[in-house]
Amino acid sequence: MADEPLILGIETSCDETGVGIVRGHTLLADALASSVAEHARFGGVVPEVASRAHLEAIVPTMDRALAEAGVTIADIDAFAVTSGPGLAGALLVGVAAAKGYALATEKPVYGVNHLAAHVAVDTLEHGPLPEPAIALLVSGGHSSLLLVDDLARGVTPLGATIDDAAGEAFDKVARLLGLPFPGGPYIDREAAAGDAGAIGFPRGLTAAKDLAAHRYDFSFSGLKTAVARWVEARQRAGEPVPVADVAASFQEAVCDVLTAKALAACQAHGVDTLVIGGGVAANSRLRALAEHRAAKLGIRVRVPRPKLCTDNGAMVAALGAHLAAAGVAPSRLDLPADSALPLTTVSV
Ligand code: KG4
Ligand code: ZN
Repeated sequence: MADEPLILGIETSCDETGVGIVRGHTLLADALASSVAEHARFGGVVPEVASRAHLEAIVPTMDRALAEAGVTIADIDAFAVTSGPGLAGALLVGVAAAKGYALATEKPVYGVNHLAAHVAVDTLEHGPLPEPAIALLVSGGHSSLLLVDDLARGVTPLGATIDDAAGEAFDKVARLLGLPFPGGPYIDREAAAGDAGAIGFPRGLTAAKDLAAHRYDFSFSGLKTAVARWVEARQRAGEPVPVADVAASFQEAVCDVLTAKALAACQAHGVDTLVIGGGVAANSRLRALAEHRAAKLGIRVRVPRPKLCTDNGAMVAALGAHLAAAGVAPSRLDLPADSALPLTTVSV
């Protein structure tokens, strides 16, 4: 085990500055600085604010990770950094830092895909990923269903959201319920005290007519509008809004569709492992419903612990370690920060 390379991963695609250090599947450090509080009053991440925060946080976060792992920069065998997708200015900070450290230490650097890293992070918790697997990635920026044949070399996109991302829907619904940003954890908490069957909100792209063209795609904007209309009608009637019931019913609609489509993909592809990643994978109902439905089908669900589901540096290091172990060549030192990096590109 000690002969596996020591990999340091840097994540700056959105509002979290993350630096993680791993050896093989062992997590040694996971340092994080978040600018989320600075975005809260805008109700969403402000790119320029995020970039500046990354710039201020990157070196201290790097130093904290090295101290946590009890190693020095000279001990690192290879660097990994999120090359995309994400906010262009935010990505640039991490990519420039990784290049600087790689150049100074004469060590290789892997520019990696943020979404593939959300899948790879699960290996830190549950060991090697059986392939093929189906991955459901649900975050503030993405909602995708993937067939993972070979995480080191390529994944096959099966479907994605056609409008809002799942996390975005949680954040928007939280906002109209008067809950803080980012709304996912607050909806999760409110929902625990509510009745998930109180209001029958729509399940996007599940009607027979939609399934032909959108079997594995998602749509959450109609659901968000339905929640807004329902809340407005209450307010217009001068009645109190039952926040817990609305939160629970909304959450149920999202989790119902996500788990149904992910498990349908497993069955259609004869796959018995479902990995769930991204910030929304921290949702307690999504985890419970996926486990419950998968158990009946003989499918194993792997979801990393909540701290590894949201953006962090460990996930980038985990993917870097996976690439190194699979013998994938590192990136060139002029590797790009690509805000629109396609899902099919695992490393640049
Ligand atoms: O993966 P992530 O940290 O960043 C992106 O790449 O977007 O995901 C953040 C998203 C936010 O929309 C947040 O509201 C959502 O994940 N989230 C949750 C929960 N925790 C975080 N959504 C539902 N339930 C949660 N417990
Ligand atoms: Zn993410």
